[in-house]
Amino acid sequence: MEPKVKRIGVLTSGGDAPGMNAAVRAVCRTANYMGIDCVGIRRGWNGLINGDILPLDAHSVNGIINRGGTMLYTARSAEFMTEEGQKRAAQTCRFLGMEGVVAIGGDGTFRGCLDLSKQGISVVGVPGTIDNDIACSHYTIGFDTACNTAMEAIDKLRDTMQSHERCSVIEVMGRHAGHLALYVGLACGATAVLVPERPYDFERDVLEKIRKARLAGRTHFMIIVAEGVGSAIELGERIHEATGIDPRVTVLGHVQRGGSPTARDRVTASRMGYLAVQVLAEGRTNRIICSRDGAITDIDMEEGLAMKKDLNALSYAAMEAFTGA
Ligand code: F6P
Repeated sequence: MEPKVKRIGVLTSGGDAPGMNAAVRAVCRTANYMGIDCVGIRRGWNGLINGDILPLDAHSVNGIINRGGTMLYTARSAEFMTEEGQKRAAQTCRFLGMEGVVAIGGDGTFRGCLDLSKQGISVVGVPGTIDNDIACSHYTIGFDTACNTAMEAIDKLRDTMQSHERCSVIEVMGRHAGHLALYVGLACGATAVLVPERPYDFERDVLEKIRKARLAGRTHFMIIVAEGVGSAIELGERIHEATGIDPRVTVLGHVQRGGSPTARDRVTASRMGYLAVQVLAEGRTNRIICSRDGAITDIDMEEGLAMKKDLNALSYAAMEAFTGA
């Protein structure tokens, strides 16, 4: 098939996620294989506005599949939110002969894609965020690595909590979503997990779970709280006031965004990046690449952005069963 585009750009935008480099590599290598020129756009949408580009050939992406972060840098662009910024970005595309753009990021990035497409540029979004909060995709690049990073840190915290018979309150990332907290809570055998999708009752969801664990003979407690629920420090203070226990609070923070991507993230990124270029090569636009029931496919961008995502029901029920036992 003769590709319908001759030159495309690739950028990463919003919070970085492990596996973004693998996705950039996949886009670049696929384009090269199909005879399409590929240009790296640095610093997200700002790079498109300012013409901050990096010519990429198949070798430019050597040795990055295993690296965290993003070789293209990333940013959240205030200028691109304005129509003026969007027009300038489209002007850069036209000037450089970039007929399509693959944007790797979260839902803010995909809204940016829609704005650019209104200026006549073809766009495809690839979901890359540790939050796993893209409704149309069951999975987003970076989630598995972030879960493993958080899990390893929490396992270490458990060692010292166990020795001192303490209570640990751990805040994990996720923005407004609790997917990371729930997954990590299951993986670490938490005493309680608080997520923004399920408003919590302090007595029932925290104190009662600590009480049950204590009556079952446990002498250390691991409470995981998603950042979207509120401050782990305040939760620690409430636990102290209500029980006299003196919790140790840990905010895991940006460590969750770094590190070498897991096999799952590298392979998902490779498959998604490959399909993104295929979509543009077929002359299609306004698509989000997504993972659904293990298959990598694509969906209309507006339709995808209008969807809502809830927590995995079975995971939540299992967590409730284990923490209530
Ligand atoms: O979206 C990824 C994420 O790490 C969220 O989990 C978190 O709320 C946010 O980004 C942090 O953003 P920043 O890096 O700007 O502090």
